[in-house]
Amino acid sequence: MSPFDLKNRVILITGASSGIGRQCAIGCSKFGANVILSGRDKGRLNETLGMLRNDENQCHAVMACDLTDYAEVERMISQVVEKMGRIDGVLHCAGISTTLPLRSVSIGKLEEYFNANVFSAYNLTREVCKAGNFSKEGGSIVFLSSVMACVGEVGKSLYAMTKGALRAGVKSLACELARKNIRVNSISPGVVITPINQNLPHIAEPERREALESKHLLGLGKAEDVANACVFLLSDASRWITGIDLCVDGGYTAM
Ligand SMILES: NC(=O)c1ccc[n+]([C@@H]2O[C@H](COP(=O)([O-])OP(=O)(O)OC[C@H]3O[C@@H](n4cnc5c(N)ncnc54)[C@H](OP(=O)(O)O)[C@@H]3O)[C@@H](O)[C@H]2O)c1
Repeated sequence: MSPFDLKNRVILITGASSGIGRQCAIGCSKFGANVILSGRDKGRLNETLGMLRNDENQCHAVMACDLTDYAEVERMISQVVEKMGRIDGVLHCAGISTTLPLRSVSIGKLEEYFNANVFSAYNLTREVCKAGNFSKEGGSIVFLSSVMACVGEVGKSLYAMTKGALRAGVKSLACELARKNIRVNSISPGVVITPINQNLPHIAEPERREALESKHLLGLGKAEDVANACVFLLSDASRWITGIDLCVDGGYTAM
């Protein structure tokens, strides 16, 4: 059996209705996982469901949920455990992004972005790690951070702070959850064009896009590039890896 195999694993993927999360769901299903697709838009989650490999021994499910509504999250996790018996892995792709100068970042914006990108991730982790939810054998939790957690760009301070918080939390969570054999890591992608950024100025304006492309030694990435790294961190191929951030950035942070 390949160490990348995810057969019989129950993997919860947030942000599965779009972009990187959708591609990760497709990737995990190809490696045999039973995938729980989570996001707010049920229609787009069902579209993702239709894209998954679905062999006779696989069982996927759609669970629409707003991750900033903590009661909804608690309900979702108990439904997953009721239906599938346990959770073996969590891939937290849900997130929001913006490009805003300091003067435009109100306290309201800070709250919105920290709620969506940080508090929801922490709350989700707390819920899945409650007794009886995660597999007794352990498993893997992966957060989607960003290269913005370690490099700077004009207008990216708000987004960067939220992604930096995820990246900073990984090491201590890894220390705390190792006794349950739960590994915790993050992935920091460079730029992959998806609905999160396609209308932001650094993508939409040709000159700025060219400048951005030149910052990636290998050019802009594809959602598959990130999804392959996610499959690695969810699978036994990474069984001796916890508490790390894996940059999947086409060389953005090498320069
Ligand atoms: N694309 C990039 O260049 C890039 C680079 C670095 C890091 N990242 C990170 O990678 C992750 C995925 O990004 P993406 O490019 O795939 O973005 P995307 O296509 O916009 O997808 C974002 C996903 O997050 C979900 N989401 C947002 N707020 C939510 C909430 N309150 N509750 C539940 N789900 C919520 C959306 O679900 P609904 O639409 O169903 O609400 C959607 O499925 C994000 O965390 C992003 O910060 C992306």
